[in-house]
Amino acid sequence: MKHRIQSSILATICLTLWAGISYAAEEETVCFESRKGSSEVVQREIRPGWPNVKCSERTNGVLWWGDPFDGTVPMGDMPVEADYSHAEAVVKPRDQQIDKNKLLSICTTACHDGKYVPVPTSLEPRPLKMHQDIVPDSMDLQHGRGAIWCLSCHSAKKRDKLIDHFGNPISFNQPQKLCGKCHGQVYRDWRDGIHGKRIGMWKTGGKKRWWTCTECHNPHDVQQGIRDSGFAQLQPEAAPAVPKGMSNTDHEKHAEHGDPSWWKDALNAIFGGGDH
Ligand code: HEC
Ligand code: HEC
Ligand code: HEC
Repeated sequence: MKHRIQSSILATICLTLWAGISYAAEEETVCFESRKGSSEVVQREIRPGWPNVKCSERTNGVLWWGDPFDGTVPMGDMPVEADYSHAEAVVKPRDQQIDKNKLLSICTTACHDGKYVPVPTSLEPRPLKMHQDIVPDSMDLQHGRGAIWCLSCHSAKKRDKLIDHFGNPISFNQPQKLCGKCHGQVYRDWRDGIHGKRIGMWKTGGKKRWWTCTECHNPHDVQQGIRDSGFAQLQPEAAPAVPKGMSNTDHEKHAEHGDPSWWKDALNAIFGGGDH
C-alpha cells in the first residue's frame, strides 16, 4: 500500500515536471548566433529584464548579446606565442551543439566500438550507409573537391575526436587546430583578428569571446551558396529609425556632405534655433 502511494506521488511529480517542460518548450525563443541549425541559443533572462541575447524577427539571427561571455569556456592554448596569448580568450564549446541528437556522447561505444563498425584500414572514400543526414553522399563530399575525406579530419580510432597531421586527437571544441592544418593562411588571419568574429572588451589584453571555425562553416558542406563557400546569405535588417527631429537621412548621401547650407538646415532641424 505504502509503495503504491509512493509511486503515485512519483507519477504525479513526473507528470508535473513533464507538463512544465513541455510548456517551457512551447514558450522558448531559439535563435542562431552564426550558423543556422548549428549555433542555436535559447533566449532567457540573465538578470531581471536583461536577456542573454536579442533575436531578429526577420532572420532569427542574434542581434545583440546581453553578456558576451555567457556560456563560454577558456579557449585553450595556441601553438604560437604572440600578443593575443596574453589576452583572456573564451569560446563556446561545440559539443553541446553537436550532441543535440546524442551522437557524440555515444558514438565510440554504441557503433564505432571497433567491432560493430570495424576500425577502417584505408583513408580512401567509400560509400557509407550511415550519417546521410550529415553528409548526403560520402563519395561526393562537398569539401576539398575530391582531395580530402572523412578521415582527413576525423580520428579513425577515436570517433569522438578530430585529428591533426601526426594522428594526435583534437577536441571538437578546438576546430581551429583542425582547419588550420590545411588552411594555414586563414588560420593566421583568424588568430590576428582579420578573419572570423570576436566580441567582448575592446582594449588590448581585454577578455574576448572568439568564434571558432565551425560556428560559421559547416565542415561537410563548404561548396554551396551564392559565393561558393557554404553560407546562406541573410536578409539585411531594416534601417534603424530616423532620430527625433529628422525627417529623412539625405545627409548620408555623399554629394550633399560638402554643402554648407544643407548642414545648417540639418543642424537646425535637430537642435532648433537660427544661425550658429
Ligand atoms: C574538413 C574536415 C571534415 C571532414 C572531411 C569530415 N568531417 Fe565530420 N566533422 C568535422 C567537424 C569539425 C565536426 C564538428 C562540427 C561542428 O562543430 O559543428 C564534424 C562532425 C561530424 C559528425 C558529428 C555530428 C554532427 O552533427 O555534425 C559526424 C557524424 C561526422 N562529422 C561525420 C563525417 C563523415 C561521415 C564524413 C565523411 C563522409 C565527415 N564527417 C567528413 C570535420 C570533418
Ligand atoms: C585535410 C585538409 C583540410 C582540412 C582539415 C580542412 N580543409 Fe577546408 N578545404 C580543403 C581543400 C583541399 C579545399 C578545396 C580548395 C579548392 O580546391 O577550392 C577546402 C575548401 C574549403 C573552403 C571553401 C573555400 C572556397 O574558396 O570556397 C572552406 C570555407 C573551408 N575549406 C573551410 C574549412 C574549415 C572551416 C575547416 C575546419 C573545420 C577545414 N576547411 C578543414 C582542405 C581542408
Ligand atoms: C564569424 C564567422 C567566421 C568564422 C569564425 C570563420 N570564418 Fe571563414 N569565412 C567566413 C566568411 C563570411 C567567409 C567568406 C565567405 C564568402 O565569401 O562567401 C569565409 C571564408 C573562408 C574561407 C574561404 C577562403 C577565403 O579566404 O575566402 C576559408 C578557407 C575559411 N573561411 C576558413 C576558416 C577557418 C579555417 C576558420 C577558423 C580558423 C574560419 N574560417 C572562421 C566566416 C567565418
